[in-house]
Amino acid sequence: MPKITAETATETKAFAADEGRKLVLAIEDAGVDILHRCGGNAKCTTCRVEVLAGDPGEMAEPERNRLAAETGLAENVRLSCQVRVADDLHVRVLGQASVRGLDPGPRPAE
Ligand code: FES
Repeated sequence: MPKITAETATETKAFAADEGRKLVLAIEDAGVDILHRCGGNAKCTTCRVEVLAGDPGEMAEPERNRLAAETGLAENVRLSCQVRVADDLHVRVLGQASVRGLDPGPRPAE
């Protein structure tokens, strides 16, 4: 089972995630209040994470197109709602409800 290490604004969490699971759900179920304002549809980018280590897999078109519309993003930024866990990953969570003072948004489908 892949191991995920997620750095948040206040702590670093380490947990296991089922292979094939959406990264955003694995992070949320580990107790991190990650934002997912569009419900996991590659529209809002609030679920973005910085990938510090590990292979998050190829980007599909919706994610590639949405990230291309942003300026000034680091190359290692991915939309966690579009990443299916396949490898050990070390990520930094860039949007949290408690930090931004926002509702996380509708939970993405499995
Ligand atoms: S882009 Fe909106 S939840 Fe991922």
